Amino acid sequence: MDLDAKIEEVKAAFEKDAATLPPEQLRTRYVGREGKVRDLFALLKGLPPDLKGPAGQKLNALTAELERRTGEILSSRPAAAAGEAFDLTLPGRAPEPGRRHPIYRTWDGIARVFMKLGFDVVYGPEIETEQNNFEALNIPLEHPSRDAFDTFYVERPYVLRSHTSPVQIRTMKERKPPIRVIAPGKVFRPDKPDASHSPQFHQVEGLMVGPGVTFAQLKGVLDLFVKAMWGPETRTRFRPSFFPFTEPSAEVDVSCFICGAKGCSACKQSGWMEILGSGMVHPKVLENCGIDPEVNTGFAFGMGVERICMLKHGVPDIRLFTENHFAFLRQF
Ligand code: DAH
Repeated sequence: MDLDAKIEEVKAAFEKDAATLPPEQLRTRYVGREGKVRDLFALLKGLPPDLKGPAGQKLNALTAELERRTGEILSSRPAAAAGEAFDLTLPGRAPEPGRRHPIYRTWDGIARVFMKLGFDVVYGPEIETEQNNFEALNIPLEHPSRDAFDTFYVERPYVLRSHTSPVQIRTMKERKPPIRVIAPGKVFRPDKPDASHSPQFHQVEGLMVGPGVTFAQLKGVLDLFVKAMWGPETRTRFRPSFFPFTEPSAEVDVSCFICGAKGCSACKQSGWMEILGSGMVHPKVLENCGIDPEVNTGFAFGMGVERICMLKHGVPDIRLFTENHFAFLRQF
């Protein structure tokens, strides 16, 4: 038996393990009661008596050396030496807190303004009937006005809703006037994605119906809304427009809050920015929902949440909302 070779073997294995094992395990594996040095002591039994003494001394020296090395390793690891379960000197791992997506923050902001004005928040399904998405809103099959609201077809009679206006229909069928609701939600259109188009986006619909609801009230409510969103200096402008479900219809602009309506690149030098569509609910739409247009009138409006968010924060491209770049999302 070559004891010296075995001793060198154990030493080399110890140094190798020292790189990966915690000192406590190292001690158990080498100098503990069932450690590798103990195994070597067991070999002494077979030696002639005159060799036992010097061999035992070598093994005692080995034990002492490995004890010393274990001690060195222990003291070079401050936290472990102090009996700590972990090393307090290591830098911490900072948690990355998430936050609400800018679109949903804008959605919440819009809803909060209208809730203060007494509007209920209602929801409708994203898969709608063709009837609710089109016909009930006075958009007949084969009529050119249908193009503007074209959508993805699921399976007759279902479509992905192309606006939140069908929630008007559901609400008017379920509730009796007076009705005062907003309906936020996802909508879908077969548009080619570019800086201002996305096949999926969000809208907030508004509806108020009751005896004697007027266009002046629509103007008042929207004026309060834009002042809450963009500040008390903001003004509104109503331009005549067309929607099949309202008569008269108007598109609403706000005075440019970047240049104070003087004209800049954001408002294309016009001083105004378009934010939504609106109008007085068409008598046919009221009738379609069983509401007597001789007794009740109503106003409605619909806005794109992405558009409002882009205008509020100067976001140049709608695709940024769905590309999940942390550098973009962290700004909100
Ligand atoms: N549904 C319209 C759209 O998707 C927006 C709209 C315009 C909604 C006028 C309305 C409204 O309720 O009165 O473009």
